[in-house]
Amino acid sequence: MKQSDLLDSKLIQGMLSPVSLDRISKLILLEEVDSTNSLLQKELNAGMGPVLVCSADHQTAGRGRSGKFWHSPLSKNIYLSISWEYALPYHKVDGLSLAIGVVVLDSLISYGYPELKLKWPNDILFDGAKLAGILVEIIGRADSSLKIIVGVGVNVNMSAKQGSVIGRSWTDLSSIKPKPPPSRNELLATLVDQLIDLFLSYPEKGFSHWRNSWNARDSFMGKNAQIISNGETLSGISRGVDSKGRLILDSSEGLLFIAAGDVSLR
Ligand code: BTN
Repeated sequence: MKQSDLLDSKLIQGMLSPVSLDRISKLILLEEVDSTNSLLQKELNAGMGPVLVCSADHQTAGRGRSGKFWHSPLSKNIYLSISWEYALPYHKVDGLSLAIGVVVLDSLISYGYPELKLKWPNDILFDGAKLAGILVEIIGRADSSLKIIVGVGVNVNMSAKQGSVIGRSWTDLSSIKPKPPPSRNELLATLVDQLIDLFLSYPEKGFSHWRNSWNARDSFMGKNAQIISNGETLSGISRGVDSKGRLILDSSEGLLFIAAGDVSLR
């Protein structure tokens, strides 16, 4: 394996913005971990924080949304987690997890992948295949404070053989374009900078600042969609998201506003 393929603390720190360097309490880079999100959870529970960043070359028990496994082979992809704390109640950051999707998408687009789309709430797709996923976990939630861990997985360079265990259609940056993908160290620094920027500005801007960008990139806009929400299957035409990040479904019963669930094309 080329040295440049491995995570390198000096390289990453050299590329992070002064704002990020100032904010990050601890940068943890590991060869192997069960899950970068789980590790940050333990660190926060042990009193570390508030801004922890963790990435690993390999996860043995990477976690996806809805209790799914996130396939995390060695040194092929990005596995990143970052924690943040707000002195705000939860409802003040409505839609943050969707805005995170826009920021990750824009970061990837900035490396020359213009065709990427979003799937509610925050999957990143290329031509219907999943390229990146985001897992937002709320660790501490009180009336006036909130601790979150944001986990980002981006498939950068994974062989068909390595990805064969993934039970859905997937892709990686190397398959989208013939040119070599960006280095993982550089992509990681960009994602951390952009996420920290988002966390800082979100309380003031709110989701309304991100809504148009989200809707412009919605892979389901105007299409028939089937949504499984709290065990119920709902059908209709997808109309994008509202100012709180809820999915708008134009159904036979009128407009439905869906706050959580899994969406799939009919
Ligand atoms: C999904 O789309 O289901 C979310 C996938 C999130 C995967 C990332 S990889 C880094 C972080 N650590 C984890 O265990 N999961 C997230």
